[in-house]
Amino acid sequence: MEISLPGDKSISHRALMLAAIAEGTTILRNLSRGVDVTRTRECLEQCGCEFKDKGAKVVVTGRGGAFTQPSADLDAANSGTTARLLMGLLAGRNIQARLVGDESLSRRPMARVVEPLVQLGAQIDISVRKTLPVTINPANLESLTFTPPVASAQVKSALLLAGLASAGEVQVTEPVPSRNHTELMLRALGVDINVNGDITTIGAGVQPIQGFSMEIPGDPSSAAFLAALTTLLPHGEITFKRLMLNPTRLGFFRALQRMGGQVDWSIEKHELGEPVGRLTVKTSKLTGIKIRGDEIPTLIDEIPVLAILACHAKGETLVRDAGELRLKECDRIKAIVENLRRMGARIQELSDGFRIMGSTRLRGATVRTYSDHRIAMAFAVAAKITREKTTLDDPDCVEISFPGYHDLIDRLTA
Ligand code: S3P
Repeated sequence: MEISLPGDKSISHRALMLAAIAEGTTILRNLSRGVDVTRTRECLEQCGCEFKDKGAKVVVTGRGGAFTQPSADLDAANSGTTARLLMGLLAGRNIQARLVGDESLSRRPMARVVEPLVQLGAQIDISVRKTLPVTINPANLESLTFTPPVASAQVKSALLLAGLASAGEVQVTEPVPSRNHTELMLRALGVDINVNGDITTIGAGVQPIQGFSMEIPGDPSSAAFLAALTTLLPHGEITFKRLMLNPTRLGFFRALQRMGGQVDWSIEKHELGEPVGRLTVKTSKLTGIKIRGDEIPTLIDEIPVLAILACHAKGETLVRDAGELRLKECDRIKAIVENLRRMGARIQELSDGFRIMGSTRLRGATVRTYSDHRIAMAFAVAAKITREKTTLDDPDCVEISFPGYHDLIDRLTA
């Protein structure tokens, strides 16, 4: 099977936000239609930006950074990227905005973004629990030199977006490299941004952006779930066309190769700084591996589906240094361990990961998804290979990032 996937979720959020502050018109093709990205679009609409669907394109009328005061709360729903990046984008834009989220997002930590933004000069009110809701107030942003204590592209990106409206420089030093879409897009759009090893600097003063045109490349995180299922099928092969091939996002595919998976990719072009091309995966026999350290941020969203693969691999798979998984849409370590145990896997829970003893035939079970899209997508892969029936308690939550996912995996196994 050869397919093109909907646009990458991380890039879709960023493209909408940059289009919103650009001067003039932006045309976006293949924007993610997932609920998370739609949240970003609607929050920006409430701040006065105009988005029009014209066939497969979205036409954005930017406001050159001059937002209007929203008359109601901005609801990020389940989307951490919407909440955290918008805090940075809006902090220096002379409006007051209250950001809220759903039950899951309202439990997730926000101090990691709010504290450095306040150091930069932002005026943000946050509850004592350091979670949503937060209120962003008008403020003059100054300068910042900051090293986030955790590897987080959301924190880094929020600070860089705030840096576009700050009087002084904003410099972020990363402890471990995380996805670099914001940096690549800003550089391609002519912003004064300098990346030197692990230090990224946005120049002083307000940085204008002009409207742009972009075809958002396919989402490699979505591809990972289809690739995992293909690997486990008796005679599977799938090629993803126009897939985003940024190395900071390909950790899953490199890990799959190390496990013995047949995976090949080639870059064909660049789109606003992002490498784009084809990637093919074929049925393979797998062996367990160790996944830890700097590799973790490059495959953080794919760990749930790697756990499914590890159950079918020969030998042991160890995942460490992934404590951030406990702070995602749900506690993903707990969700993986609990559901895999129900399916008969041999898995040991660790504070920052898990250990799986492989070569297990998973059996049917009722899976508790915690309404977390990545847990639902991973266990939908498992459901396709259990002999007995496996049901998910909330299959529809895949709409968060991948509308149409269940139909696609049905086609893969038809
Ligand atoms: C994202 C960064 C990652 C990732 C999330 C999307 C982004 O989160 O898990 O799905 O678009 O910047 P962290 O920055 O919290 O690691």
